[in-house]
Amino acid sequence: MTQGFEAQPAMRIFGTMAVPGDKSISHRALMLGGIAEGLSEVTGFLASEDCLATLRAMRALGVRIEQPSATHVLIHGAGMRGLRDAGGPLDMGNAGTAMRLFTGLLAAQKFDSRLVGDASLMARPMERVAKPLREMGADVRTHSGTPPVEIGGGHRLRGIDYRMPMSSAQVKSAILLAALYADAPTTISAPAASRDHSERMLKGCGVRVEADGLRTTLHPPQRLLNQKLNVPGDFSSAAFFIVAGCLGAPEEGLLIENVGMNPTRTGLLDILRSMGANIDVLNARESGAEPVADLRVRASRLRGVRVPAELVPLAIDELPVLFIAAACAHGATRVSGAEELRVKESDRIAAMSAGFTAMGVAHRVFPDGMQIEGRSEGPAFSGGAVDSFGDHRIAMSFSIASMRAAKPIEIRDVANVATSFPGFVSLARSVGLAIRESAV
Ligand code: S3P
Repeated sequence: MTQGFEAQPAMRIFGTMAVPGDKSISHRALMLGGIAEGLSEVTGFLASEDCLATLRAMRALGVRIEQPSATHVLIHGAGMRGLRDAGGPLDMGNAGTAMRLFTGLLAAQKFDSRLVGDASLMARPMERVAKPLREMGADVRTHSGTPPVEIGGGHRLRGIDYRMPMSSAQVKSAILLAALYADAPTTISAPAASRDHSERMLKGCGVRVEADGLRTTLHPPQRLLNQKLNVPGDFSSAAFFIVAGCLGAPEEGLLIENVGMNPTRTGLLDILRSMGANIDVLNARESGAEPVADLRVRASRLRGVRVPAELVPLAIDELPVLFIAAACAHGATRVSGAEELRVKESDRIAAMSAGFTAMGVAHRVFPDGMQIEGRSEGPAFSGGAVDSFGDHRIAMSFSIASMRAAKPIEIRDVANVATSFPGFVSLARSVGLAIRESAV
């Protein structure tokens, strides 16, 4: 028996809501707090399975971490050289971010480490981090490119000048973590901008980091300073409700409070606005090193667009739910340059295509994206059964499709929603979506 969702057609979405804390920032807060000096305090922490895997791993590496409540974490920093051998494999679960960033951090330690994960993670590419780390002098081994990742400790690392072949924040961050321990500065250049939380947070810890979007240079520090951090709501979780709000009844608005608005994350807003979406950014403010705002979303008639290539890395995790919006828009939407979608928690192009085929959405698949023929009048989805392929973002995207479905949508294999968005179903129900959990 696997867990599923049953989503009844529901046109209305309204009210005020807040989404849980940012996943990328929560992972990084634990790692940086663990190697900082003294006590780091994190509020708004995302207590999802992915971030809890990072928390358990940091504890196994000898860092004392208290969790007075699910979202409140106190990290007693062990200092840059205070981590110790976990004594066994570190299990990253479904978390690609955890595995890639830990590979960088552990490549610089005195002891050996071994990283494993669930079936999805064990099939994901790890050479993208192993290769630059080897250039730095680290001993990092993969198994034909995938986990387990074996790291031999005790190597002195060199500063490098690395040209990243893809635009990946995980690769960049893994190198930056190793670069903290190198004998000279490290520079990473990228073909396009990607999320910059690591850069912002490292600066907050007193590390000298120079970043202009495409080129990042880190100067190895003596120590990292502790921080008090309030994690903003995860834009990638808000994205499901931003799209739902665009598809909802026109007279009602949905207010999503305290959303992280880092410009390297909000490509979806630019894309939706170019499609005609009605989204107001209210009460824009700074929270720590990150911009935050409340978003008011009202339904609007969306038009199909050609998504500019430079927005793809800035909306990478939101593309599945953008595909749902595109299926409900007038005309065709074309996304290209998104081949990275093929190596996420699932092959997200194939997973969305399978669901679209099952629900009668006309589309064409390309190696690097999709063209979706939208239907703006009447239901865009027939309803029926779709598979999430164990991928949290696919499961949540098809839940939002229920806003324009003719019949209920049954979504299979949804347990991994808890990796990024604990409480998704109850939050969705609280603003009018008719989703319930089922055993299928
Ligand atoms: C993340 C980076 C992105 C993103 C992932 C989280 C991060 O991955 O898809 O969900 O926290 O650095 P890539 O770096 O592989 O694009």
